Amino acid sequence: TRMWKPAEPDNPNDPHVREAANLLNHQEVVAFPTETVYGLGADATDEVAVQRIFEAKGRPADNPLIVHVATKEQVDRLVSHIPDVAHLLMDTFWPGPLTLILESNGEAAKNVTAGLTTIGIRMPDHPLALSLLKATEKPLAAPSANRSGRPSPTQALHVKQDLDGRVAGILDGGTTGVGLESTVLDCTSNVPVILRPGGITKEQLETVLPHVAVDPALADENNKPKSPGMKYTHYAPEAPLYLIEGTDEFFLEQVERLKEEGHRIGVIASRELAEQLSHERIITCGSRLNMAEVAGQLYHALREFKKSEVDIIVTEVFDESGVGAAVMNRLQKAAVNVIQPS
Ligand code: TXA
Ligand code: MG
Repeated sequence: TRMWKPAEPDNPNDPHVREAANLLNHQEVVAFPTETVYGLGADATDEVAVQRIFEAKGRPADNPLIVHVATKEQVDRLVSHIPDVAHLLMDTFWPGPLTLILESNGEAAKNVTAGLTTIGIRMPDHPLALSLLKATEKPLAAPSANRSGRPSPTQALHVKQDLDGRVAGILDGGTTGVGLESTVLDCTSNVPVILRPGGITKEQLETVLPHVAVDPALADENNKPKSPGMKYTHYAPEAPLYLIEGTDEFFLEQVERLKEEGHRIGVIASRELAEQLSHERIITCGSRLNMAEVAGQLYHALREFKKSEVDIIVTEVFDESGVGAAVMNRLQKAAVNVIQPS
């Protein structure tokens, strides 16, 4: 696997960008940074190339991919129709962490949409991603560049850890900014529906849309405490993750209890909570008063604890307003257990 760090990330003619684009134009897969997380790209119009994404990640074939574009003209070529609301959203939030689900016209390779009649498209807000898209002159299908089930990569090193030897190359653009994936918004119904909370918040969408719905499946999963031992297949760290609800005091008690039971505990906590803990294995992920900071550091934190060091990772529950909704969605999916005050 080649690793490149382009000297001129915003130049489509940078030699490293050209080399990556050349591989993409020859059905290879290449990882690249976006403003959210690193993506694993392939020519979205080429079924063979797209198949390599599924193989490299070990991704189930029924999970559709997001297509990345550099221009609105590229969207026109992939969809049968752009509703007014989608035009408004593109003009307001693109480039940016918002994926729009639209009616596909069948131009994308059929494995991109996993057999659906709709297609997810976004314009990433990252100089290197946009340079690469301009250099290939193709829409690029790109899921997050992690092995299926692992936390998404926010650094080139994370991609290397998961995919070294399985992909043609990795473009290194440093640490990604948002740190969590894009918001996925279904625009095929009258009222747009959030299918996945992400970098563009519901509150932001509501500044331009009169109504925004949330997929009921999301609320369901958020409210239901997960049973211990439940198979963890999303954003999973190396050791089982426990979410601890309730007060800071309850959190400190639970850490002590788990330690007394003989477990080696790793703690992922806000600065405010970490300051109250006297514990050897703590990773802080920013201030709980600044959820953008927590979002930016969360996936790195989830990758930090190794199974050789800890048996259980515990983390706190964050406020769900703004990008906190996306943070809690990922933590709920990553957790195998929720501890609640009785
Ligand atoms: O920020 C992001 O979105 C990153 C960067 C690389 O752009 N990409 C990303 O891709 O998170 P991935 O494959 O890890 O997640 C794509 C999500 C999945 O939940 C998938 O089911 C959903 O988007 N999706 C894609 N196409 C869809 C469609 N036509 N209908 C419904 N959901 C779709
Ligand atoms: Mg993913």
